[in-house]
Amino acid sequence: MCGIVGYVGDKQAVDFLLEGLSKLEYRGYDSAGIAVYDGAKIRVEKSVGRLAALRDKIKDDVPQGTIGIGHTRWATHGRPSDVNAHPHTDCTGDFVVVHNGIIENYLTLKEDLIEKGHSFKSETDTEIVAHLLEEVWNGDFEASVREVLRRIEGSYSLVFMCKREPDKLICTKQDNPLVIGIGEGENFIASDIPAIIKRTRRTYILNDGELAVVTKDAIRITNRKGEPVTKKVFEVNWNAEAAEKGGYEHFMLKEINEQPKAVRDTMSQRIAKDGKCITMDELKWDADYLNSFNQIYIVACGTAYHAGLVGKYYIERLVRVPVQVDVASEFRYRDPIIDEHTLFIVVSQSGETSDTLAALKESKRRGAKTLALTNVVGSSIAREADQVIYTWAGPEIAVASTKAYTTQLILFFMLALYMAQIKKTVTPERIAELIAALKQVPAQISETLSDTEPIKTFAKQYGFNDDVFYIGRGLDYDVALEGALKLKEISYIHAEAYAAGELKHGTLALIVEGVPVIALATQKSVYEKTLSNIKEVKARDAVVIGIAAEGDEELQKYVDHVMKVPETDELLLPILAVVPLQLLAYYAAITRGCDVDKPRNLAKSVTVE
Ligand code: M6R
Repeated sequence: MCGIVGYVGDKQAVDFLLEGLSKLEYRGYDSAGIAVYDGAKIRVEKSVGRLAALRDKIKDDVPQGTIGIGHTRWATHGRPSDVNAHPHTDCTGDFVVVHNGIIENYLTLKEDLIEKGHSFKSETDTEIVAHLLEEVWNGDFEASVREVLRRIEGSYSLVFMCKREPDKLICTKQDNPLVIGIGEGENFIASDIPAIIKRTRRTYILNDGELAVVTKDAIRITNRKGEPVTKKVFEVNWNAEAAEKGGYEHFMLKEINEQPKAVRDTMSQRIAKDGKCITMDELKWDADYLNSFNQIYIVACGTAYHAGLVGKYYIERLVRVPVQVDVASEFRYRDPIIDEHTLFIVVSQSGETSDTLAALKESKRRGAKTLALTNVVGSSIAREADQVIYTWAGPEIAVASTKAYTTQLILFFMLALYMAQIKKTVTPERIAELIAALKQVPAQISETLSDTEPIKTFAKQYGFNDDVFYIGRGLDYDVALEGALKLKEISYIHAEAYAAGELKHGTLALIVEGVPVIALATQKSVYEKTLSNIKEVKARDAVVIGIAAEGDEELQKYVDHVMKVPETDELLLPILAVVPLQLLAYYAAITRGCDVDKPRNLAKSVTVE
């Protein structure tokens, strides 16, 4: 996965290109590059490493010109290196391209192009696109690009530059995102809105197969057949600050602290005025239809998968319909049993995760009705699903997902309540009671966020341990999985989550003196059982940090430290209990000097398989 940008206007292109790329580094940051037309030739500059390395490389000789493209890379084909960094050029240097995605038939095309005399510099799949354009060139930039698109297979968003028609950029997309920012006497192209929001809020969001010819004064969009497409301008309604750090040291910390608002925004328009029922106006399925499903699948990756596990719990408990949860990369290859009576739910913050998108397409092929829970309006998954409900978390930039998770939990909870209303599986009194508890959640998250000192202390104390274990039962186990993932991905500490009852079936062998165990004990229905598991690890001299709800005076007798979260219905406790775990991961990563927002080997949204 990568980030791409383009600029055409009156100003120096390099300024926007570097600014835009800095906002897209969350998509990949192992190398970066730009290409600018200087009036005589297209000058390409690229460098392995972060964008800072590229800035440094060009600082004494900045490329001059008012049209250009740029790229920040997350390696797939070819290791991170100067030569594999984008932009890529053909043999003459007249054709230049940046790409996000994978060209699946690149090897066949490459062999053919080599036979025809083209010589390749990089190991990437992308370079063939530039050579192919050179090969099929017929004197017309747009027509030649269309010919290239007929020959390539795979997923892409692409921006092309051509020295022979140097006043325009051509961009197109298939399965990867691309937006065009509409300016005055200038226009912008980017993989995502944060790159352009400082310059304009007026955008076109390209659909698969659309192609745009962008000059400084015009944007002409056509479909695959070359027919004009009339698009609605999409006005971005969040501000530039929302995509910035807003005074926090890291996006992750900012996003953790934004959770009260994100949760409030996600629930606000979905609770009836009298507070007695859930409204889901965006769901266009009627009651009979929602009643007709006999099973539900929830499919997602990473943190979104963990949200799906909680979703299963909510739906089974409140709606009494069987739910299966699967990671998307497994689901898509295992011949699942689904049909038109299956409700297939995908969860994705970005709405662009390749495996999740593929699973969604597969479920549709098998006849399921599909629903997406996503955070990004107009994303590929939002467009592919039959129905969409959005988390209103705002842009999530840090690689480690935080506010997306809590808002996904909120949305699952509300969806389960909504379905329960329709199916009458929960009494109106209980629904009203749960809604009343739900409305307290934003304030309760704020309360949990108000005192982070003990968490900082634990992080300092245990931040240098090699292994950390997380245990819990029921919903606590689901939260434990998410807590362990957070710690692993940003602090690089080996962390594992176990269903507490499973310890004695193997894992207990790993528990020795001084090993930190984070024990979640928020669920009253399994509290005593969890307590006995905690005693098991304490008996092996583990250092236990318990997570409990306020009012629990018991747990502290058996653990070394306790972190308390406000008391609420046990169904809602995961939304509160995850917050100290997010903070613990954050401060552990800080203690270890890790790059919190850009952990090694990872990217924010995984748009390749
Ligand atoms: O955008 P998505 O929600 O589809 O992303 C899914 C995972 O890649 C994502 O949750 C990942 O696990 C996060 N880095 C976890 O913090």
